Amino acid sequence: MHTNDFKFILLGAVLLVNPMTACHLPYDADFKLDLASNVAANNRARSKRQPTNCTSGKIALDNVGVFDGYKIQSPRTVVIEGSVIGSDPSGAEHIDGEGAVLLPGLIDSHCHPGNVTHLKSLAQYGVTTGFIMTCFTSEQCTSLNNHHGLPTILISSAPATAPNSVHGNITSIVDRTLLVNSSSQIPTWMKEQAALNPNYIKLVAEVPGFDQQMLNALVDEAHAYSKQTVMHASGFEAYNQSIIARSDHVHHAPLDKEISLSMAETMLYQNQVVTPTLTMMRAVAQSRTDITNYMAAFKTVRMLHEVGVPILAGTDANLQPGVPAMVPFGISMHDELENLVEAGFSNSEALRAATVLPALHFGLKDRGAIKVGMRADLILVEGNPLVDIRAIRNIKRVWVGGAEYANS
Ligand SMILES: *[C@@H]1O[C@H](CO)[C@@H](O)[C@H](O)[C@H]1NC(C)=O
Ligand SMILES: *[C@@H]1O[C@H](CO)[C@@H](O)[C@H](O)[C@H]1NC(C)=O
Ligand SMILES: *[C@@H]1O[C@H](CO)[C@@H](O)[C@H](O)[C@H]1NC(C)=O
Ligand SMILES: *[C@@H]1O[C@H](CO)[C@@H](O)[C@H](O)[C@H]1NC(C)=O
Ligand SMILES: *[C@@H]1O[C@H](CO)[C@@H](O)[C@H](O)[C@H]1NC(C)=O
Ligand SMILES: [Zn+2]
Repeated sequence: MHTNDFKFILLGAVLLVNPMTACHLPYDADFKLDLASNVAANNRARSKRQPTNCTSGKIALDNVGVFDGYKIQSPRTVVIEGSVIGSDPSGAEHIDGEGAVLLPGLIDSHCHPGNVTHLKSLAQYGVTTGFIMTCFTSEQCTSLNNHHGLPTILISSAPATAPNSVHGNITSIVDRTLLVNSSSQIPTWMKEQAALNPNYIKLVAEVPGFDQQMLNALVDEAHAYSKQTVMHASGFEAYNQSIIARSDHVHHAPLDKEISLSMAETMLYQNQVVTPTLTMMRAVAQSRTDITNYMAAFKTVRMLHEVGVPILAGTDANLQPGVPAMVPFGISMHDELENLVEAGFSNSEALRAATVLPALHFGLKDRGAIKVGMRADLILVEGNPLVDIRAIRNIKRVWVGGAEYANS
């Protein structure tokens, strides 16, 4: 395979439900060069981005219907002051919202952006925050941070994977020293990852893969560093493991068999939070009808929701060749919102799964709602997404940290 493929492995998704996708890449030291050039390009792009040139630094959005998490309030004025939502419109440049609906910027709780083009796509479709879910190196992920006027990217640890598992085989190709071979290695592995200060620790439950004791110990060790855990689980058995291990977050949904009611109730009692990435599960199921079943994932989400387990909207967006499915950045959040509505969410519940709930459950206190003092991450849409969720696709304007996103 060409060296470039290593770059994509480094950047991209590792949602793998079948060995077919764990292609046998030869080890090639050149991937480090690709990584370095990608990081350099991202950092160069950041240094070139100028804060938007806005005379007053203050904008009054008049006549906008504000989504407050439950309903759309009657039209009023919202002030953007610098990077946050202000309260005093005096001296502001006025923009007529023409009765359109203003919502908090969308939060994608599972995605794999790798460069600035991907960040722009997120912004273009109203995604103002993204949780990147695989960071084989911390530099690669932090090179996507702090780009003025582009989405905030929250950073994962390297994925903890077991040798000879599907995901472990990918880790072996990229950097085999990141494998967690035995329980005695957990303290060192976690210490090194925690030192990179990721926003959460990514763990992979899969069969074959870590046994239950390993998963339990990994979760406990992450908690010893006050880090939340995000556990990949895309099959029934892995879900069971993630429940027993009490991972804070469980990502994906089983594509083999839906979980039971008692499993869902246990997740509720344990305050576990699920990001099912139905968009990806559907795409995988479409590509592998022989061993996968979208209805298992769908029914799992419907049950979790009925029971009251918090669900976050995430897409697994990635443009990596070789994974079961590529999912485009940004627009896939609109698909995921529709998927959640199809699974029984009210429109406002689906929108909360993409705004206030991820902020709450990942501890981001500055976003997820339109309130004075919060980040001015905002989207203005035509039509009423509480009547028809597809209205979210009619984006008129986007602000990211107070800077209006212009498609350039
Ligand atoms: C905004 O940009 C224009 C054109 O580049 C420039 O002439 C103007 O001085 C800038 N204004 C501010 C406030 O930076
Ligand atoms: C980012 O990656 C995509 C492929 O996913 C590529 O088309 C695009 O040109 C890249 N952008 C930059 C700035 O490198
Ligand atoms: C991982 O790679 C090893 C060595 O190539 C292989 O024996 C094993 O079957 C692979 N594991 C999976 C789950 O595909
Ligand atoms: C796990 O084993 C591999 C060899 O297969 C080794 O290179 C790696 O350093 C080990 N991982 C840790 C954390 O020691
Ligand atoms: C979950 O795993 C435990 C421990 O391995 C096992 O005893 C239990 O039967 C499993 N639950 C289900 C529903 O398969
Ligand atoms: Zn993923």
